[in-house]
Amino acid sequence: MKLLVCGGAGYLGSHLCVTLLQVGHDVRVYDDFSTGTRRALARAEAITGRTLEVVEGDVRDGARLRPALAGVHAVLHLAAKKSVAESARRPDAYRDNNVGGTIALLAAMRAEGVRRLVFSSSAAVYGDATVVPVPEQAPLRPTSVYGRTKQHMEQVVAERAAAWPEFAAVSLRYFNPVGAHPSGRLGESPRGEPDNLMPRLARAAGTRGASLRVFGGDYPTPDGTCVRDYVHVQDLAQAHAAAIECVVRSDGGVTTLNLGTGRGTSVLQLLHAFEQASGRRIPYEIVDRRPGDIAA
Ligand code: WQD
Repeated sequence: MKLLVCGGAGYLGSHLCVTLLQVGHDVRVYDDFSTGTRRALARAEAITGRTLEVVEGDVRDGARLRPALAGVHAVLHLAAKKSVAESARRPDAYRDNNVGGTIALLAAMRAEGVRRLVFSSSAAVYGDATVVPVPEQAPLRPTSVYGRTKQHMEQVVAERAAAWPEFAAVSLRYFNPVGAHPSGRLGESPRGEPDNLMPRLARAAGTRGASLRVFGGDYPTPDGTCVRDYVHVQDLAQAHAAAIECVVRSDGGVTTLNLGTGRGTSVLQLLHAFEQASGRRIPYEIVDRRPGDIAA
């Protein structure tokens, strides 16, 4: 099929493009390159030996989105800002880009009659889970601006589905994406200073004298550090390819699915696993909790 991947130049987006090209789809990437890179797209093409069509544009720009939707069978929407920490510092930018972008994209899809969507949501919508592993039916109590924008994006998708009977969507709530393409030619290489744990571990391991700051050691968890469900980016990419097949067969409405392993890993467990895998020691110090973080 002809697919439009909004945010295809990002960490997950570029790995997703590799999988979609390898499955045989034709892929058009729509990205503003605010955080994603053309280098990632070039790597995706080199790995697959296939070419990507690229449209540079802002996901809030309906006039630019509409021609990009020409001939498209389904859209994958991954174009959003995703740092929990940054969202606390820049709430308006997150609401405008994440929620505003989703409204613009869905309006353009309606105008062009593109009626299938795979939507990138987040486990951040659950907030501090009472039941772990978290079921999809768990109440949504996001504790971060980022998580609240993802909840609002889900509501925009649900409202579109209610108003457009032929529209079908699969909403995927990711836990913590980590890892790289097995070729080693594509991975997580964020611009500037990353907020996420895994790229910070990688930088600490590769920088002489660097140490990792562990945000909080007094959480109600086995070793006092936060627990997360780290899920491999390749598994997430394959799940999106499967979601495309699911949404094409769907006769309407929104299906919501958690994407995770169902197993939690603490910050210190991840750090020690990284040390074992890399053969590098990573010094660390336990410091104050980070605002907005949840225990598990
Ligand atoms: C993980 C743990 C930190 C850095 C992520 C994504 C977000 C969404 C939800 C998909 C926390 C701790 C971190 C450091 C640390 N994913 N940490 N020292 O906050 O779970 O959010 O998952 O939608 O987009 O960002 O991930 O990697 O920032 O933090 O101790 O230097 O590692 O406190 O407990 P988080 P993270």
